Amino acid sequence: MTSNRRTFAIISHPDAGKTTLTEKLLLQGGAIHLAGEVKARGQARRARSDWMKIEQQRGISVTSSVMTFERNGVTFNLLDTPGHEDFSEDTYRTLTAVDSAIMVIDAAKGIEPQTRKLFEVCRLRSVPIITFINKVDREGRPTFELLDEVADMLALDVSPQGWPVGMGGQFQGVLDFASNTVSRPEGPSREFLGKRDENLDLPEDIAEEAELAQVGYPEFDLEAYRNGDLTPVYFGSALKNFGVTELIEAIAEIAPPPRPQPAGEEEITPERDEVSGFIFKVQANMDPQHRDRIAFMRMVSGTFKRGMKLTPSGLGKPIAIHSPIMFFAQDREIADTAEAGDIIGIPNHGTLRVGDTLSEKNQIRFTGLPNFAPEILRRVQLRDPTKTKQLRKALDDLSEEGVIQVFYPEIGAQWIIGVVGQLQLEVLIARLEAEYKVEAGLEASPFSTARWISGSAEDVQTFEQFNRANLAKDREGDWVFMAKSPWDVNYQQEKNPSLTFSATKER
Ligand code: G4P
Repeated sequence: MTSNRRTFAIISHPDAGKTTLTEKLLLQGGAIHLAGEVKARGQARRARSDWMKIEQQRGISVTSSVMTFERNGVTFNLLDTPGHEDFSEDTYRTLTAVDSAIMVIDAAKGIEPQTRKLFEVCRLRSVPIITFINKVDREGRPTFELLDEVADMLALDVSPQGWPVGMGGQFQGVLDFASNTVSRPEGPSREFLGKRDENLDLPEDIAEEAELAQVGYPEFDLEAYRNGDLTPVYFGSALKNFGVTELIEAIAEIAPPPRPQPAGEEEITPERDEVSGFIFKVQANMDPQHRDRIAFMRMVSGTFKRGMKLTPSGLGKPIAIHSPIMFFAQDREIADTAEAGDIIGIPNHGTLRVGDTLSEKNQIRFTGLPNFAPEILRRVQLRDPTKTKQLRKALDDLSEEGVIQVFYPEIGAQWIIGVVGQLQLEVLIARLEAEYKVEAGLEASPFSTARWISGSAEDVQTFEQFNRANLAKDREGDWVFMAKSPWDVNYQQEKNPSLTFSATKER
């Protein structure tokens, strides 16, 4: 039996309309579950730590959440990726827990930097992508130009599934190629009220464009889409609710059900009886007085039942999971089972780490949850030197959680932290103070990026002898080359062809 789960994320540049689209998708699904809401009840709501304040002040969500809804017998798990310009490894890792993605593009702007970055992460894992060109109710760029931009910039085949009938002031609705109907704006706010018009009556230029598009671009091909080589393109307006039904129906019909996950040489399929999953995210305590954390586990196989014992790979002994947070229930009632594709929130006190596998028999180890080379490196400066021990503990904890990466240089005593987004730095300082009572500052470091080194023990040792000033160890004790520039990386790679300088590290 194929699964009725569709686990996906939305990737976009800030302001493209991800939030608006999410709302519309949830509305279509009826019942809504927000991980943040579930956790923010009662005590936790009254005592939020400082980094939660950062979230509030900046009006952004640092932490991802899970939203689950059902429609026509299909269960959709939408994993939120933070929409802010600064993004963290959290965002990247969330994409390792989905089976497909929707790429939202602003019709006036086309492909923007963050869309592109997130797309590249999807491509690494061949995540299939459905494209939604949003805001066609506003003046946008010519439709052909947008499609060609997606194709050229992302090196991806595009297959339009419909066409906007005019844009901006001329906007008359969205044509759907499959049904040959138009959804038209109605009423004072000119929203889509759900009635499709079969009397096409298209302006001549639009009819011509639509015809050209249908012959000029490749037809939809399921296999090419599932391999990540082709993206079907839908047009619409999240704000006016145009094209959203087509989009959600497309996810139900073509988006892949839970995929097998790599575990070393093996692949674990959803059909396997043994319950297994991996932690892709840890959300720390909302309440600084308690060290509670929620670990988000993506279910890969089996049927999880409340109270079940699973062994985390990082711990080696089984833990009973008595109070999992499950996001897929239609209402607030706590559900008792979860299956492949679902996400479970597991409360813990720091025993579960990002990248951990949880399984019944403790034999599976999922691979492919990488660390990413940081793009921002800073030296940590302790204001009170007697707090060195606390600082080390805090940095180790926070790097386990995936908030930052920490590097301990071979020479010199100042530790270096690395992040991929500026915001992580603020979160770090706020949490050091709130949770560890450590006052620290950050100062510039001479390095701009880092690469994990691998090769034969001998080669690594030789490299070490000559490059101690540029070497550090990460939390797990693996060698990292600290580079002053990308040029530095290339230079060393050329000089040391037997070593690999890797921008990612498998956890
Ligand atoms: P994001 O999560 O991707 O950052 O984007 P968000 O949904 O917050 O949308 C960004 C802005 O774009 C919002 O306007 C939103 O109303 C608008 N928007 C989203 N979808 C559409 C659409 O289909 N058509 C049009 N015309 N606008 C759209 P804002 O000015 O930031 O907020 P508001 O004051 O309009 O609420």
